[in-house]
Amino acid sequence: MTDKINELLRRVEEFKPKAAAEIEEFRIRILGKKGELTALMEEFKTVAPELKRELGQQLNRLKNEATTRINALREELQNASSDTSASSDDLTRPGSAGRLGSRHPISLVRNRIVEVFSRLGYTVAEGPEIEDDWHVFSALNFPPEHPARDMQDTFFIAKDPDILLRTHTSSIQVRTMERQKPPIRVICPGRVFRNEAISYRAHCIFHQIEGLYIDEGVSFADMKQSLLYFAKEIFGEQTAIRMRPSYFPFTEPSAEVDVSCNLCGGKGCQVCKGTGWLEIMGCGMVDPNVLRANNIDPEKYSGFAFGMGIERIAMLKYGVKDLRLYFENDVRFLHQFDEAL
Ligand code: PHE
Repeated sequence: MTDKINELLRRVEEFKPKAAAEIEEFRIRILGKKGELTALMEEFKTVAPELKRELGQQLNRLKNEATTRINALREELQNASSDTSASSDDLTRPGSAGRLGSRHPISLVRNRIVEVFSRLGYTVAEGPEIEDDWHVFSALNFPPEHPARDMQDTFFIAKDPDILLRTHTSSIQVRTMERQKPPIRVICPGRVFRNEAISYRAHCIFHQIEGLYIDEGVSFADMKQSLLYFAKEIFGEQTAIRMRPSYFPFTEPSAEVDVSCNLCGGKGCQVCKGTGWLEIMGCGMVDPNVLRANNIDPEKYSGFAFGMGIERIAMLKYGVKDLRLYFENDVRFLHQFDEAL
């Protein structure tokens, strides 16, 4: 019997499985109910009492050895399989595509607006965010005491009242008039800055697109037609516009433009506050003072200008109620615009 035990011990020590299934098979063959060790246990019952002590110890040792070896082998194989999985990867397998980022909704809307106006012959102009008083206010016919120059609205840089963050992209229009003789047809997208408390409906940074068209014989009717075309392209063919008299220092006459509310079809709802109309931009005929300040003869040329907030258009288009979402860059928000526009 000792021989049998030793022979089994040797097999346990030499056992080198390649797969987990082999270990299990080995375990059943040795330790299972009908296994070899169980058979030896049976045989043990019949041995002479004086041999029992010695043989019993041997059998116990065999049982312990077999169990620890089997457990150790199992663990070894498991570790090995997780190690080798990297090196045994199929290198010809196609890679899994990483998730692409999406365009920011403000960029989507800006690009769309640029595209619509480029069809009408407008080109894009850009300018600096840090500006001087002349390009933001004086050349645009802002009287020296105009409240928009006030510390309340404008961020001044380093206590110098001449250097400031632009409060609107009309400054780019001034820079364009400096560089270019009419006909002029530009749209000016960009970031603007105003000293406002941040809330769901106001932010100290936002984006504008302004437009300027100057040529001989440009009329209010031209402006209205261009803006109607724009509104239909952005909000849909059924969209109507209306103009309400307004005031800007750089245009005369001036107007606010409303579009018919898409959500209720003009009947009045929560979004349009029951009016059926949504305000989207300011516009007007360029004031002769502005033309003169920029060396353009107002007797010969006339023009119109308009300006809108990109966030405002995006809010109306996507039904986003909180402006701050556009600045937080939470990917859960941004990914919703993957397929937008
Ligand atoms: N600059 C104006 C604003 O920031 C918008 C505007 C532009 C109005 C051109 C009329 C004409 O509010």
